[in-house]
Amino acid sequence: MPRVPVNRPSLPALVRVAGPSGEAVPDPATAAALARAAEMLATGQLVVIPTETVYGLAANALDADAVALIYRVKGRPPDNPLIVHVSDTAMARRLAADWPEVAARATAACWPGPLTVVVRKAAAVPKIVTAGGETVALRCPAVAVTRRLIEQAGCPLAAPSANRSEAVSPTTAAHVLDGLGSRVGLILDAGPCEHGLESTVLDCTVEPPRILRPGPITAATLAAVIGMPVLGPGNRAAPVAENRPAPPASLDRSPGQRQRHYAPRTPLEVSAEAAPRVAELLGSGSRIGWLTLRPEAAEVRRLADSPSLVVVPMPADAAAYGRMLYATLHALDHRHLDRLVADAVPDETAWAAVHDRLSRATSEI
Ligand code: TXA
Ligand code: MG
Repeated sequence: MPRVPVNRPSLPALVRVAGPSGEAVPDPATAAALARAAEMLATGQLVVIPTETVYGLAANALDADAVALIYRVKGRPPDNPLIVHVSDTAMARRLAADWPEVAARATAACWPGPLTVVVRKAAAVPKIVTAGGETVALRCPAVAVTRRLIEQAGCPLAAPSANRSEAVSPTTAAHVLDGLGSRVGLILDAGPCEHGLESTVLDCTVEPPRILRPGPITAATLAAVIGMPVLGPGNRAAPVAENRPAPPASLDRSPGQRQRHYAPRTPLEVSAEAAPRVAELLGSGSRIGWLTLRPEAAEVRRLADSPSLVVVPMPADAAAYGRMLYATLHALDHRHLDRLVADAVPDETAWAAVHDRLSRATSEI
């Protein structure tokens, strides 16, 4: 079976495919791209796929050699398991040893969409996918062309985010090209990702179920559709009723999840008092990027004239902020600044996923 060298001599093919909603019958260019991608997956090669969260680096999840390529191309530690993408619930159930009521309710309400459920794995799932563990993470993506690809390939797809390990996840095909370049052969480009932050990961093997990674689907939504409370990361009750963010996923997290993750190349810090901090850094001669929630504030406008400062207004709405965050970090990394400063975001449940990603991006360990 032909294998793709990790360092290819040339850049990948980048093919536009029909956008997130998809068509009942794909246009000819999309159909040709899907046929080529399905063929590559069937022969053990990797394909970059669009999803509504971030772009994924996909391999046939049932081909252990192909999955090993994912770890090599990403430089991913072997103890960090992968999410398996399915075209529907029936495919998911074939990969699970059992299908708890919690998983049934959560997926009925949230699939296709940005929810990953962790359940006990079936024997068919290779150990390399689960990093040796007895559970498997499953997700049905909302992007229709990607579900169509899974159907055409006839196999579930193991797919982590399509970036080098510890780098910022890609929310456009250009980010993938930037980060992985000639390490991949084909990128299916469906435009910018709708959510821009990775899926919510829910452990359905414990009772009550527990959020391992906050994401676009909130604890409150999950509790409502499951009909019972869910725990947040760190084993504490997820903040459903009270107006508090989920605690950072640093205590009791998914296997292989490191605290430092999603980090831009330019050092990032979060500050509740960003204006004096930015002024101080500018005073010491640094070139600064400032992600601010208050672009109209007098203190921001006073500093904005500095030629050493790039001010990036960020949305006051959590979902809109999440959609922009990685794209902003990618863009600022190209400005060759000395440091990025982000205003602290509101202490509210809607911001739990943004909180989590900002805290990982700023961690020094
Ligand atoms: O939105 C997403 O989930 C994206 C797109 C491509 O689908 N994928 C993604 O994959 O974010 P990755 O590999 O970057 O993150 C996978 C997360 C990790 O935090 C990992 O620890 C967790 O899922 N995970 C995978 N399998 C698990 C398992 N069996 N038990 C607990 N956590 C698991
Ligand atoms: Mg990732």
